[in-house]
Amino acid sequence: MLHIGTHGFLWLAALSLIQTVEFCSSAEIPDVPSIATYFGTKTRYEEVKPNLLRDPLTVNTSVLRPPPDSAQGYNHEVDDELMRFFERCRGYVEGVENNHTALLEVEKFKHGEEMQAVRRRLAEKLGLSLHLLTPDLVEAAFFICSYELSIKSIHSPWCFLFDESDAKVLEYSFDLKQFWKRSHGHLISSLSSCPLFHHIFRTLDKAGRPRRSTEAGPEPASVLVGHAETLIPLISLLGLYKDQTLPTASNYHSQHGRSFRTSRIIPYAANLLFVLYDCQRGPRLQLLINETPLRFPNFQTEDAPLYRDVRAAYRYLLDGCDFNTECERKPEGRGPNTEL
Ligand SMILES: *[C@@H]1O[C@H](CO)[C@@H](O)[C@H](O)[C@H]1NC(C)=O
Ligand SMILES: *[C@@H]1O[C@H](CO)[C@@H](O)[C@H](O)[C@H]1NC(C)=O
Repeated sequence: MLHIGTHGFLWLAALSLIQTVEFCSSAEIPDVPSIATYFGTKTRYEEVKPNLLRDPLTVNTSVLRPPPDSAQGYNHEVDDELMRFFERCRGYVEGVENNHTALLEVEKFKHGEEMQAVRRRLAEKLGLSLHLLTPDLVEAAFFICSYELSIKSIHSPWCFLFDESDAKVLEYSFDLKQFWKRSHGHLISSLSSCPLFHHIFRTLDKAGRPRRSTEAGPEPASVLVGHAETLIPLISLLGLYKDQTLPTASNYHSQHGRSFRTSRIIPYAANLLFVLYDCQRGPRLQLLINETPLRFPNFQTEDAPLYRDVRAAYRYLLDGCDFNTECERKPEGRGPNTEL
């Protein structure tokens, strides 16, 4: 356990939807579709943190306590250069975003046998002929089901079309898309977040450096707010959620235990927190995803390794990971070895 005061927080949140939570006087939990945990990046945060359904303001203080003097004022500014790095990365825009073959696995899966089976079941329920129910229409129905829950907090009738196995197939198709578009599928997707990676470590360096007693303390927290397209590349660059086997159109059945599950990692309001602790042997760094502790790939047995050891593990990125070099590289050129 770490009992010593925190140096600072760095909080990265992906906000795609601000919802108005209706505070009911009764603590009744609304009727939630059973498939609500399979909505990928359209999953509500409440499905990942069910305790919020009872009290939307609860904080699990066994995991985290806010710094004591966090009530000071703060400045904020829009910095798209830092937070929307992917738009400016030519290698990403040309190699992935505008590349018709980059998401081939997603297209193949949409027309593969698992999706075909979902279409058949739905067509039967709806009394439609199969050819009218395209994969895009199936996806649209699933989206309506998820949006009606996240925007209006209602259990949409569209949700009744899908059973759990259908929802898992759709979830996989969303995961494939995020994987090949923004994550480990193409190295450049994660490398495009190099500026954000460097910004985070500069902020941590500053917060953790030794100070004279007369010097002002570090800022208690630094908060960066963006979208899933900002957070996923960074998480991938850090080497997180990288499974042994790549998810493809043809290995759905061997991917049930995959760690790359956007419904869990990147629901609405997803957040990644870096906490620097002031400890005897030097600062220690802890990572939390959606308020749950997460271990660094190189430190699978330690919740909060020494900050200097984390830096050493990411040395190849700290010394390289240059946005211009990576983003201007020819597609066939190889990036640095990002294996951890
Ligand atoms: C708080 O976090 C601890 C440690 O992760 C966990 O065991 C516990 O279930 C959490 N409590 C709630 C209410 O989520
Ligand atoms: C497009 O994506 C494919 C598949 O990932 C890749 O092999 C190809 O090099 C990419 N094309 C460009 C122009 O980057």
